[in-house]
Amino acid sequence: MDHVLVTGGAGYIGSHACKALKAAGFVPVTFDSLVTGWQDAVKFGPFEQGDLLDRARLDAVFARYQPVAVMHFAALSQVGESMQQPGLYWRNNVLGSLNLVEAAVAAGCMNVVFSSTCATYGEHDNVVLDEDTPQHPINAYGASKQAVEEILKTFGEAHGLRHVIFRYFNVAGADPEGEVGEHHRPETHLIPIMLEAIDGQREALTVFGTDYETPDGTCIRDYVHVCDLVDAHVLGLRWLQEGR
Ligand SMILES: NC(=O)c1ccc[n+]([C@@H]2O[C@H](COP(=O)([O-])OP(=O)(O)OC[C@H]3O[C@@H](n4cnc5c(N)ncnc54)[C@H](O)[C@@H]3O)[C@@H](O)[C@H]2O)c1
Repeated sequence: MDHVLVTGGAGYIGSHACKALKAAGFVPVTFDSLVTGWQDAVKFGPFEQGDLLDRARLDAVFARYQPVAVMHFAALSQVGESMQQPGLYWRNNVLGSLNLVEAAVAAGCMNVVFSSTCATYGEHDNVVLDEDTPQHPINAYGASKQAVEEILKTFGEAHGLRHVIFRYFNVAGADPEGEVGEHHRPETHLIPIMLEAIDGQREALTVFGTDYETPDGTCIRDYVHVCDLVDAHVLGLRWLQEGR
């Protein structure tokens, strides 16, 4: 069976992706430092603890499993933290991804599916944003993800690396079978915070923003279910494998 290296496979979306990959007939190999992830979320294939900043560790994992593709979820992803500690985000997200992509090319693994973000777009007046909308990130997190997109494009041109980039908006939901779920510490995502408030784990839920052009002035956001999202990743992987 084909192996797929899943960076960040111990995290929220990565662990759901591992489940979807296994169901699709792949062996998901989780590569994760556990900086924000959880080892007990690794249930569907081997676990290799390691940091993207450790190139030798990456090379050893590529040599051991010879994956046909990489699904790259590993990143730090808190907007506020990225503004307070931009160096942390450039180093972890950009240098880490550069290491990963160089290790993949060196190992002959030429397919990458990458988790990017709506934060690469920045602020726009038009409501519908699509792939052609100009990217003007307004925080270090979004800028770091846009930089990784550029790395992938240039490695595609220079080395033939094939890639699919997904720019998610808000991801929500959990595995209906309850094998994996969402567990961020601290939790910054609206729906888990709302559930924690309902459950009495926090005093209140604060909805920020009062002057949007909506009936009650609060903002409207788009959500994608995590299972739909990871299914799209598997489709992206198959599309890459078909050599398109
Ligand atoms: N959750 C969302 O709503 C959302 C929206 C848009 C984009 N994204 C992107 O999706 C990806 C996954 O998000 P998530 O919500 O599952 O986050 P998460 O924090 O649950 O998972 C990220 C995983 O990456 C690991 N990691 C981070 N840096 C690492 C490093 N240097 N080496 C090895 N492992 C490392 C963490 O330990 C963690 O397990 C991220 O890249 C994020 O930017 C998420």
